[in-house]
Amino acid sequence: MQHNKSENKPPPGITRRNALKGAVLFGAVVLLIPAVRLMDFLLPPKATAVTYPRLLVAKTGDIAPGKSLVFGYPTQDRAALLIHLSDGSFVAYDALCTHLGCSVHFDGDPLKGWENNPEEIFCPCHSGVFDAKTANVLAGPPTRPLPKIKLEIDTQGNIYANGYESGLPLYGES
Ligand code: FES
Repeated sequence: MQHNKSENKPPPGITRRNALKGAVLFGAVVLLIPAVRLMDFLLPPKATAVTYPRLLVAKTGDIAPGKSLVFGYPTQDRAALLIHLSDGSFVAYDALCTHLGCSVHFDGDPLKGWENNPEEIFCPCHSGVFDAKTANVLAGPPTRPLPKIKLEIDTQGNIYANGYESGLPLYGES
């Protein structure tokens, strides 16, 4: 039986070397796809810049010194605390305790065991205490300060929240 030599020959234009190159390339791609997926899984996600809204919170005349108000920031359903300190300055913090996320209080209802102290922010869950001026931990189990919201006050006395100046991440976010 006579073999037709042209049946074993690659089509014109495809040399054995090119066919081999193609096979190697295909193999590399097949191996590379799972490797890339594995790297995505192993490497931490790339940090993306989070932007926060500029939000009108109150006017300076709305809160007496030593008082506070609760507002939503950065979204309506996340409580934040704006405090008019007794020295006349304003500060604002995320209002979820950095320990286990309970709502903190400044001048809220007097709670059992909590003396309403104008220098302190109190967490009723496990008696966490934060300095009202700095949000640093003064007592209790929290290990880090409350996230501090950046405030801007314009010439008309409008107080705006505009991002965070320290203390991130927010409780419940990483
Ligand atoms: S949740 Fe605030 S002290 Fe534990």
